[in-house]
Amino acid sequence: MKKRAWIYLAIGFLGIGIGVLAIVLRSEQAARPIPPEPTSPKPQQAPKVSLPGASPIEAIHEDYNQPSSLWVVVNKQFALADEQYRPSDLELVTTLPTRPEKTSDEQSLRQVALPALDQLVGAANAAGHNLLLGSGFRGYDLQAQYFNNYAAHAGEAAASQFSARPGQSEHQTGLAVDFGLVSGECYLETCFGDLPAGQWLAQHAHTYGFILRYPADKTEITGYQYEPWHFRYVGVSLATALYTSGLTLDQAQPYLKTALEQLRLQQLI
Ligand code: DAL
Ligand code: ZN
Repeated sequence: MKKRAWIYLAIGFLGIGIGVLAIVLRSEQAARPIPPEPTSPKPQQAPKVSLPGASPIEAIHEDYNQPSSLWVVVNKQFALADEQYRPSDLELVTTLPTRPEKTSDEQSLRQVALPALDQLVGAANAAGHNLLLGSGFRGYDLQAQYFNNYAAHAGEAAASQFSARPGQSEHQTGLAVDFGLVSGECYLETCFGDLPAGQWLAQHAHTYGFILRYPADKTEITGYQYEPWHFRYVGVSLATALYTSGLTLDQAQPYLKTALEQLRLQQLI
């Protein structure tokens, strides 16, 4: 063979060699496992409370078992965790007339509920309803006096239909209000619910964060007779969800419990 032919042959073999090497390297690369891409932690959903028939609401970051929580459930089954609980932010109510013969405690509410009460009273006045504060906060001892007095007159079973035992009253949270009218009409009587003021409260109180706590059609659930005057402050979001769903606070308790478990899991409380 001529010299040039040898050169061409050598170049040919070199080309084939490089090609084979490239194929081998590529196939090795393909066989090598691809390391997973670094992932950022999955964002956790903020705990919500989803009552049937109502839009989900953000869970407030509190332990609802504590008497100081806006969402604490107090009823015949669930007494206050601290039976001598007394809120630390009690304040005399000045936004509407109170009953001067009552103790200053009973003319007081927790400060946290007062801006909402101001707004509710302003709107009620504008609608022509001159509300009065019957009872606000009642401590353990005062509630005991009330209950024992009613029980002495009506018997314990009858008394427990309209008066809570001490440690089981929402009034002890400082978040419950018994409304009356300046006129005194139907004070602490079920006819309050038939008056324009009672009807206005039932329809509008939730927009200010207050719920009608003992409705006429829920006596079996609440354990108390219809009390169209008794409202409980829980904040606008929960009050609106309860109003929309038609549940009482007692019925919402399992949903609150679920939210509380999520808050704990996510270490938000
Ligand atoms: N009247 C309500 C049930 C109370 O005594 O707290
Ligand atoms: Zn009450």
